[in-house]
Amino acid sequence: MKLLVTGGAGQLGRSLVKRGRASAIEVVACPRSALDITSWDSVVRAIDATAPTCIINAAAYNAVDAAEHERDVAFAINRDGAELVARAGAERGVPVIHISTDYVFEGISTEPLKETAVALPISVYGESKLAGEQRVLAAGGMVVRTSWLFSDGGPGFVQTILGLALTRPVIEVVRDQRGCPTWADDLADALLILADSPTAELLHYCGGPAVTRAELAQEIVKLARRYRPIACKVVPIATPIGGSGAPRARRPPTVTLDTMRASLRGIPPRRWQTGLADVIAGELAS
Ligand SMILES: NC(=O)c1ccc[n+]([C@@H]2O[C@H](COP(=O)([O-])OP(=O)(O)OC[C@H]3O[C@@H](n4cnc5c(N)ncnc54)[C@H](OP(=O)(O)O)[C@@H]3O)[C@@H](O)[C@H]2O)c1
Repeated sequence: MKLLVTGGAGQLGRSLVKRGRASAIEVVACPRSALDITSWDSVVRAIDATAPTCIINAAAYNAVDAAEHERDVAFAINRDGAELVARAGAERGVPVIHISTDYVFEGISTEPLKETAVALPISVYGESKLAGEQRVLAAGGMVVRTSWLFSDGGPGFVQTILGLALTRPVIEVVRDQRGCPTWADDLADALLILADSPTAELLHYCGGPAVTRAELAQEIVKLARRYRPIACKVVPIATPIGGSGAPRARRPPTVTLDTMRASLRGIPPRRWQTGLADVIAGELAS
């Protein structure tokens, strides 16, 4: 097995390299400078030079708030770029696994959402990712939805909370967003299994159990206290509406992805606490 990974410098791209190395799987991870998914020439050049057995599209426009005023850029990467990778792979007979997000859902159901649940995004980012999923599936690719990714080095929620906790006595974190944190290394392990026999379908994979952002922040601070004398208190708040502190994009209030289909393929969800402890040790144990 030989994998070509787009978005190779991102959180998931780096984890695929790391976990591939641990499993003796050859992973060629291209940063954006070497493989731009919005350029057909760039994509086919990389495929032809690598001759992979599977392509994982980990490249994305992930700036959820900025997407509200950069709609064209978000769609160019998350919809058109994803389609381009899927079509280039299909043309050369190389299966493609594309990564998507729980933000395709409206987030009003407290029940775990199966792959068959109706997607109704409430942000431009979510719309662009849903459009990308549809194009990839139409081109015969596989789509793996995940949620709340975190990794060594981030950047992401874990690094943001750590930075604030080390410098402030109190941090306010929203209690009305609930989801499933996922360690990028765990997702990478799951993808390395799927890449051996990808199927043209949609599949959910995330960590468990579901928590609120405030609960996740409290866990981050608790684990960080193993390494630093942190006095910071996490105060759960409601998401600000309007005003300078309000986010530009709406987030789904609660999404738990149902991962039964992944479990049946031998990749059950892992507890995110294990990965979080590993990431925090990497950030602070020195
Ligand atoms: N992060 C999360 O919480 C989360 C949650 C659910 C799903 N996901 C999905 O999981 C996947 C991986 O996310 P991640 O957290 O690893 O993202 P990430 O860290 O933001 O990495 C994405 C990478 O894609 C690159 N990229 C952007 N435009 C590109 C283009 N036109 N061509 C090639 N590369 C391009 C970025 O490069 P630059 O930095 O140079 O722009 C970046 O290195 C994405 O599909 C994302 O939507 C993420």
